[in-house]
Amino acid sequence: MVYDLIIIGGGPAGYLAAERAGHEGLNTLLIEKRFVGGVCLNEGCIPSKALLYSAKVLDAARHGEKYGVTVSNAALNHEAVIDRKNKVVKTLVTGIKAKLKKNKVTLVEGFGEIAGRNSEGYEVKANNETYTGKRLLIATGSMPVIPPIPGTKEGIEKGYVLTNREILDLRTVPASLVIVGGGVIGLEMASYFNSAGSKVTVIEMLDHIAGYTDREISDILLKNYQKKGVEFKLGAKVVEIQEGAVVYESNGQKFTAQADKVLMSIGRRPVADGIGLEKIGVEIERGRIKTDEKGKTNVPEVYAAGDVNGFSMLAHTAYREAEVCINNILGKKDIIRYNAIPSVIYTNPEVGCVGETEESAKEKGIDYEAVKISMMYSGRYVAENEGGDGICKVLIDKKYRKLIGVHMIGSYASEIIYGAGLMIETEMRVEDIKELVFPHPTVCEIIREAIFEI
Ligand code: FAD
Ligand code: NAI
Repeated sequence: MVYDLIIIGGGPAGYLAAERAGHEGLNTLLIEKRFVGGVCLNEGCIPSKALLYSAKVLDAARHGEKYGVTVSNAALNHEAVIDRKNKVVKTLVTGIKAKLKKNKVTLVEGFGEIAGRNSEGYEVKANNETYTGKRLLIATGSMPVIPPIPGTKEGIEKGYVLTNREILDLRTVPASLVIVGGGVIGLEMASYFNSAGSKVTVIEMLDHIAGYTDREISDILLKNYQKKGVEFKLGAKVVEIQEGAVVYESNGQKFTAQADKVLMSIGRRPVADGIGLEKIGVEIERGRIKTDEKGKTNVPEVYAAGDVNGFSMLAHTAYREAEVCINNILGKKDIIRYNAIPSVIYTNPEVGCVGETEESAKEKGIDYEAVKISMMYSGRYVAENEGGDGICKVLIDKKYRKLIGVHMIGSYASEIIYGAGLMIETEMRVEDIKELVFPHPTVCEIIREAIFEI
């Protein structure tokens, strides 16, 4: 049998593409080597959010006094947290499998490797079978970058150096945890393990945390972490990992941080090797599959979506890219735009960002106006956040009076930011936003408050 579409990789890009393709009547085969749901469901977005929610509940109980609630002996049972996380993952993975079945997708659980091309289409091998598809979608995702720092390989083998996969399955809370990399994974895990009782040290080579996040926002986040007792070594370089310790250099001097466990979170790289792409001549650029705005590779009828194209390693980007690929396969006009993709850091407080930052606007030479207001302008924020120091910053293109960026730190930022993305995506102007009605009292009213400052 010849499939209309073969998808390699069952993460957010692959499973969503399979669901949509099946729904539209394409005879679809999905090949997954590990677990349907990919990194996001099994060892990324969902497990980390399950853990962070438990930490949030604990923090609320610990600080209940501020709100007139007395909770004695609030404590976190880490094993129970992990068990609950596993239950959440299982529920969601089961749901996806059911949806694939409903949409008549054939699922093969095995390693998929492109074998070549015949007169009917592309050949893919899995579990000693060869399948043929008129079209291919590569959605093999990404994996953690493991640096050649002395002691890392040995640490991984012995189990004291962890990646996101292992840390999300730890059954005991390490007394001390050193996190290499103060990006999104590092910060989310620092947040959870700090609440859970570890002594957490984050070693970051840059002079700030949270990568491309607006600098004022990342500085507030840093202060919040420091207040909670997380230690940061910024502008520092790890030079060696030993059992029980991490050696790092800062200002030309060597220091040692105690580390029962070490989390390596210095970025991820696309999985584009070892899957036979060279057999059909798919172009790889700096380790990622090169795609255009329709998700097409240089090879006819071969598409790629998700982390493997290296554009924006986020699950919601993967979803949208997958939809764009399927729409193009179906002959519908669709392209992916990256200018209004929200990003969220699910720490406590949460960070939500979309569009240009002041830094990126300056770099692009955009004539912008930035307005920054305290979250205390929101009634609901004040009602629910004793001593909160959140802010909301909006950026406007001065020439067109269009919204080009929104950055916020504070409660509900993760749930609010999509609205700002929608405003940017639909090119709303200041005057258009002023006419919108926001429910009251909500924290999202902060966007309206900021816009009225212009
Ligand atoms: P993946 O999810 O990596 O899936 C690829 C799949 O392909 C995997 O299941 C893999 O087993 C399979 N595969 C690979 N090669 C083969 C092969 N040869 N044959 C068969 N199968 C193969 N993003 C967010 O938007 N929000 C978050 O909160 C968030 N949190 C995260 C937390 C952590 C700890 C991590 C690590 C990531 C997080 N991400 C988050 C990023 C998100 O997980 C990824 O962007 C998303 O999973 C990418 O989806 P994907 O389908 O491209 O790849
Ligand atoms: P990251 O790119 O977010 O952060 C890596 C950090 O490590 C950077 O700050 C970098 O400067 C630093 N670094 C690099 N090399 C280093 C070294 N040798 N020593 C010290 N620091 C070093 O990568 P991370 O945290 O691994 O996450 C990978 C990706 O997963 C993210 O880029 C994001 O796309 C996705 N993700 C998204 C989440 C979300 O949306 N909430 C949550 C977690 C992950």
